[in-house]
Parts: sequence; structure tokens; C-alpha cells
Amino acid sequence: MKLLVCGGAGFIGSNFVRLRLRDHGDEVVVLDKLTYAGRRENLEGLDVELVHGAIEDPEAVAKAVEGADALVNFAAETHVDRSIAEPDAFVRTHALGTYVLLEAARAAGARYLQVSTDEVYGSIAEGSFTEASPVAPSSPYSATKAGADLLVASYVHTFGLPAVICRGSNNYGPFQYPEKLIPLMVLNALHGDPLPVYGDGMQVRNWLYVEDFGRAIGHVLEHGVPGEVYNVGGPDECANMEVVRRILELTGAGEELIEHVPDRPGHDRRYSLSSDKVRALGWEPQVHFAEGLGRTVDWYREHRDWWEPIRSGDYRAYYERQYGRRLA
Ligand code: NAD
Ligand code: DAU
Repeated sequence: MKLLVCGGAGFIGSNFVRLRLRDHGDEVVVLDKLTYAGRRENLEGLDVELVHGAIEDPEAVAKAVEGADALVNFAAETHVDRSIAEPDAFVRTHALGTYVLLEAARAAGARYLQVSTDEVYGSIAEGSFTEASPVAPSSPYSATKAGADLLVASYVHTFGLPAVICRGSNNYGPFQYPEKLIPLMVLNALHGDPLPVYGDGMQVRNWLYVEDFGRAIGHVLEHGVPGEVYNVGGPDECANMEVVRRILELTGAGEELIEHVPDRPGHDRRYSLSSDKVRALGWEPQVHFAEGLGRTVDWYREHRDWWEPIRSGDYRAYYERQYGRRLA
């Protein structure tokens, strides 16, 4: 298959590209704006064409989509805290960018897969969201992702575009930018920096190993029914404090590094997805959290060359703005 992978230089996108080349022999073009989160080195050694451009730029998109059988859209601003501090790029990329891609898919007669998130459903105290649950997003990040999903649905309904949506739960694994909980805590633990836990740390997330999400996206692209939404949740739920304690164990750091800091405004307490529909299509997760977290910590230990330039660059200023303190 010839794929246009938008946002393929980011965390999940680059893992997806690696998996498709390795297991399916796809031909891949990546279109990526290369924001702070999009990194050329994530695609190092892979046989792909990287087009540097924004999904909201119709000319860049028209060029990149030529000859593609399918378009997979990972491109997004993805950090909830940044969406609270500076929402504008979230609105532009998710609303305008998704619109430009949908038009391009329509013109090219290509299939379209929108990568979305469990956050569009909001928080759930008990039980799990199904695809029939209403969208009730809480943050500028999740609200603009929900808006993009609705736009995709409108192109299916109005224009008959063969599009599907995959809503994933919290991903973790190699190449994740260290603003997100797991890589941030791993790198801070390895450096002896405090581990900033928001509020009481009892928020629950449904952890999904990044390769499992990539396999689900490929599976839905090949076997999903056009117009349908598929939830893709990880096999395990875990409270943040438990995640942090496991990271301390795996890195050999001490509990005294844990520091409770002010909570995220509007913080969603719990996410949980029912993945029955994608399981019925033939996918299931292969990696449990205990195993995946161990692999992830090992990867960060062994890939100092990947994270050192990040942790010593602009990231330091971001960290100081976000947490009001400097990294060691
Ligand atoms: P990421 O922040 O690591 O990567 C995002 C990528 O998109 C980067 O390469 C960035 O340069 C690119 N990008 C951003 N704006 C762009 C634009 N306007 N034009 C072109 N490229 C642009 O994100 P990620 O964690 O890999 O997430 C990928 C997708 O998966 C997103 O759509 C996100 O909403 C969704 N998702 C993420 C998770 C998670 O836990 N990380 C879970 C479910 C769904
Ligand atoms: O659920 C899927 C979503 O997961 C994706 O759509 C988002 O792109 C992705 O960023 C992620 O959102 P979260 O807000 O759940 O992930 P984050 O890693 O930012 O935070 C996970 C939990 O950890 C959350 O409850 C907030 C908490 N946290 C996070 C950070 C960065 C802390 O306690 N301290 C921190 O420093």
C-alpha cells in the first residue's frame, strides 16, 4: 500500500511508520511540520520520503498526497498542558489542518484514517466509553480533536469519503517527547530531579503500548468499515502515583523525589475505553503495562543520544514555565 502519513515524525507516527515498513512493506511518504515534537531523527534509517510541510498548507498537502492509496493523520498538537497555556496552534492544526487533508483525500480518491483520542469523551468515574458514548471534551486539546472527528464524520456523511476514526488511549513507548508523564518521570528519575505529580496523583489512565496502537491503526485501515469509529484501549489501567512508583523501582531512584504540585486546570480524573469493536475486527493488545514500561525505561536508558539534545535545548525553558523550577 502507498501511504501518506501526516505527523509521521512524531512519537506514534514514527513508530507506526517503522512497523508498516517492517511488517507490511508499505511505501511511505511522511508530511510533517517538524514542530518541537516532530523530529527527523525519529525516522533515521527508515526508507521514507519526508516532506517538510504543514497539513493546513493545501499546496504542501497536494504535492505529498500524489499517488497515495490512503492518508493517515497523526499530525496534531498533543500536549494538554500546552493547550491550556497556548491554544491557538491546536485550533489551527486540528480544525484547518484536518479540513485541508479531507479535501485532499476527496480529490485523490484516497482512503482516510483520523487518529483521535479517548479524551474526546471526557472523564468517566466508572465503566468504559464505547463508540456510542457522546463526545464531552474538557480541554482545548480534546475539544479541537473532537471538532476534527466531527468534521471527518461530516465528510463521510456528505461526500461519501471512505474515512474511519481510531480513538486511542494513553500511549507510551520509545520516542515519546519528555513532556508526557512517563518519559518526563523516567528522565527526571535518572537525573535525580523531582517528579512533579499533579494534585493527589490518583488520576487513572488506560495505558497502551505504542506498537499495539500502530497495529490497531493498520488493522482498521485495512479492515475497518468506512464511516465507523473504533476505540483502541490498552489492556491495563493505572493511577499516576502507581506509574510513578513503578518508574522509581525500574530506575532505582528513591521516593523522596516525588513532589506533589498544583493540579492541571480542568484535569480529567479517569479515562477508560471499551475496545470490543476493534477486538471483534481481529485486533488485540499484545503488551501489558508491566512489560511495556520495563521496555520503555530500558529504551530511554539506552538512547541518551536521542533525548540529551532535547533535554538540554528549548525544553528547559518549557519546563521552567510549566513547573516554575529548573532542571538539574
Ligand atoms: P507528537 O506530539 O509526538 O507528534 C505530533 C506530530 O505532528 C509531530 O511530528 C509534529 O511535528 C506534527 N505536527 C504538528 N502540527 C502539525 C501540522 N500543523 N502539520 C503537520 N505536522 C504537524 O504526538 P503523538 O503522541 O505521536 O500523537 C499522534 C496522534 O495521536 C495525535 O493526533 C494525537 O492526538 C493522537 N493520540 C495520542 C495519544 C498519546 O497518548 N500520545 C493517544 C491517543 C491519540
Ligand atoms: O488519553 C490519550 C491522551 O493521552 C492523548 O490524546 C494526549 O495526546 C496525550 O498527551 C495524553 O494526555 P494526558 O493528559 O493523559 O497525558 P500526560 O502524559 O500529559 O498526563 C498523564 C497523566 O499524568 C495526567 O493525569 C496528568 C499527569 N501528569 C502529567 C505530567 C506531564 C502529572 O501528574 N505530572 C506531569 O508532570
